[in-house]
Amino acid sequence: MANNETKDVLNKSVINWYPGHMAKTKREIKEKLDLIDLVFELIDARIPYSSKNKDIDNIVSNKKRVIIMTKIDMCDIINTEKWIKYYEEKNIKVIKVDLINKKNINEILAITDKVREEVNIKRKEKNLKERKLRILILGIPNVGKSTLINTLVGKKSANVGNKPGITRHLEWIRINNNLELLDTPGILAPKLDDYVISHNLASLNAIKGEVLDNEDIAIYVIKKMLELYKDNIISRYNLTSYNDIVDILDNIGRKIGAVKNNETDYEKVYNIVLRDLREGYLGKITFDRLEE
Ligand code: G4P
Repeated sequence: MANNETKDVLNKSVINWYPGHMAKTKREIKEKLDLIDLVFELIDARIPYSSKNKDIDNIVSNKKRVIIMTKIDMCDIINTEKWIKYYEEKNIKVIKVDLINKKNINEILAITDKVREEVNIKRKEKNLKERKLRILILGIPNVGKSTLINTLVGKKSANVGNKPGITRHLEWIRINNNLELLDTPGILAPKLDDYVISHNLASLNAIKGEVLDNEDIAIYVIKKMLELYKDNIISRYNLTSYNDIVDILDNIGRKIGAVKNNETDYEKVYNIVLRDLREGYLGKITFDRLEE
């Protein structure tokens, strides 16, 4: 989408990202729901509110559900823990994981064992034979769905690092004799009608530059860092004194070698700031905050 069109869409206040795909995914999920024993809803520990697709609550309201909070290794744990408490107070179990270092995968396995046992006890009572547990995997793009599946399978099979928004079909993945997963493609994008949510998602790559441009996102990130993690951004770019955002961009430009003949290459500055945030060079962060 061209930038001007993007801004037109933004100005319409309600943005539905790939609305056609979304509707189709939701329909397909509803059709399969009767087969499902347990739902894993993945959310990103750095944006535990923005990365939660609020439609999921309605789609799977009558199913047993666990929130798998990914990327715990990159979050500001003190603030993320407040969100865990918030969800647990709503009676939703949360398992926090670092899928890269395979932290807390045992907790996921323990819950699958427990629910499978429950399912099969009920089946036995009805004289039905034992069967595998069927889990539905849900979550917005880039939250770690493929990585989780690969971890459970124990080898590379799901498509990690897929570009958000690319359509794939719902597919069953056999994990072992006890477990089957229904993978949903990364098109369960949230509605982007909220300025903070859409910018949080874009900051952490859950929606791509087709929806918001780098300038918008990077300036949002800088302001957010100054508000929440001032020391981190100041020390990363040696920001000593500055008057306004342009000053800050110029300072960062000088620090990263993006100033030539007194002219700052702003696009380069935006890219570096976003890379630094996404790769953790600006420290462990949690952008969503609960009101105290
Ligand atoms: P998706 O299927 O939900 O779209 O997400 P996917 O598994 O493709 O994961 C997206 C990116 O997030 C991957 O990085 C993956 O390695 C990373 N990731 C997933 N879980 C964790 C976690 O617990 N901790 C950390 N630190 N990273 C995690 P990538 O391949 O580099 O892709 P990209 O970020 O360049 O798109």
